Amino acid sequence: MRAASVSDYRELARRRLPRIFFEYIDGGSYAEETLRRNVADLEAIALRQRVMKDMSKLDMSIETLGQKLSMPIGLAPVGMAGMYGRRGEVQAARAAAKAGVPFCLSTVGVCSVEEVAGCGTPPWFQLYMLKDRGYMRELLSRAKDLGSPVLVFTVDLPTPGARYRDVRSGFTGASRLEAALTQAWDGITHPGWTWDVFIHGRPHTLGSVVGAVKESRRVTDFLAWIARNFDRSVTWKELDWVRETWDGPIVIKGVLDPEDARDAVKAGAQGLVVSNHGGRQLDGVKSSVSALPRIADAVGDDLEVYMDGGIRSGLDVLKALSLGAKACFVGRAWAYALGAGGEAQVARMLATLKSELAVAMILTGCNSVRQAGPGLLDRD
Ligand code: FNR
Repeated sequence: MRAASVSDYRELARRRLPRIFFEYIDGGSYAEETLRRNVADLEAIALRQRVMKDMSKLDMSIETLGQKLSMPIGLAPVGMAGMYGRRGEVQAARAAAKAGVPFCLSTVGVCSVEEVAGCGTPPWFQLYMLKDRGYMRELLSRAKDLGSPVLVFTVDLPTPGARYRDVRSGFTGASRLEAALTQAWDGITHPGWTWDVFIHGRPHTLGSVVGAVKESRRVTDFLAWIARNFDRSVTWKELDWVRETWDGPIVIKGVLDPEDARDAVKAGAQGLVVSNHGGRQLDGVKSSVSALPRIADAVGDDLEVYMDGGIRSGLDVLKALSLGAKACFVGRAWAYALGAGGEAQVARMLATLKSELAVAMILTGCNSVRQAGPGLLDRD
C-alpha cells in the first residue's frame, strides 16, 4: 500500500512492527478516552470555507524561539524510536531537518543526543525531571554543548499512567522468559523489522541515559529505571536550577490548565506545549485542542504556545493555529511513518501535512499561518 494519509502510515506500521512496539505507539492510558478525544475534538471543528480570494501567495513559515521553521509543525519527543526504525531518531531528525522543521529528541531515545546531533542539526532536547539531579545536570550540559537550541521540559509525567495495551502485548510486566518468547515470535513474524532494526539497528539501549543505567541490557530495563526515577516532588522552583545549567529557551510540555500556563510564565519559561501526552497519562482529561483557547487567552504573547495531541492532518494543524497555537507537534504521525519505512516515509508524511495545510489555507482564505485566527472556523 502506498500511504496517502497518517492513518495509512499507521496501518503500514501495524503490519511491519512487532506487536509490542505498535501497541506501545498506538495506545493510550486506561480506557483511552483522552486519546480518542484528542482526535475526535479536532475532527469536530468545522473550518469556514471561503472563495474568490487571491490565494496565489501562501506563507507557511514562522519564527519561533530564534528559529525559522518552513511550516508550523515539529516532531514531538517520542521514546524508543530506534526500535521502530534502524537508528530511528537519526532517520527522523534527518527528515525533519530537510523539511525545515524541528525534531525534538526524547530523554528515552535509543539514539543519544550526541548521535542525533552528529547528523548535522542539533535536536531540540526533551528532558524529564529525574530523581538523579546530577545525571540530569550532566544531560543538560551535554545537550547544551552540542548546540541544542531549545529545552523541552516535560512536566506531565511525575509518574507513568497505566497503559493496558502494554501489559496485554507483553511489553511490560512479563517475566524474562515470556519476554524472550514474545521477542522470538515477533522476530519470526516480522522479518523486515528483524533485519532492519533487530540485527542492524544496534545497540538497543537508551543512548542518552545509558551511563546512568549500567546494570541494564534490554530497552525495557531502561524504561523500568526511568519509571523508578520520575520525581513526584517537582515544583516550578526546579526551573531555577535547570536554568543554572541551561541558558537557552525552555518550553514546558504538558500544560492543560490556564493557571498552570500562567505559572509557567511566572517561572520564566519561553514556551509551553498544551498537551496531555497524547492521551498516555491521566485518562479522562480534556483534549489538547479543547484546552488550547483558554490557555492561549491566559498567556497572550507572554510566551510561545504550541499544541500537540491528535494532529493527524494539515487540516488539524490549521484548526489548532486558529485556536491560538503558534505551531503544532506531531507524535504518533511520525512514529507510524518511521515504523512504516524510515526517513523516506517520515519525509513523505511531513510533505503530506504541508500540502494538506496549504489546501486548508487556500480554501479558508488564509494567506499566512501567522494570520490564522478564530475567523477561519465555522462556529454556527
Ligand atoms: C510519546 N510522548 C512523549 N513525550 C515526551 O515528552 N517524552 C517522551 O519520551 C515521549 N514518548 C512518547 C512515546 C510514544 C510512542 C508516543 C506516542 C508519545 C508524547 C508525545 O511527545 C506527544 O505529546 C504526543 O504523542 C502527541 O500526541 P499525538 O500526536 O501522538 O496524538
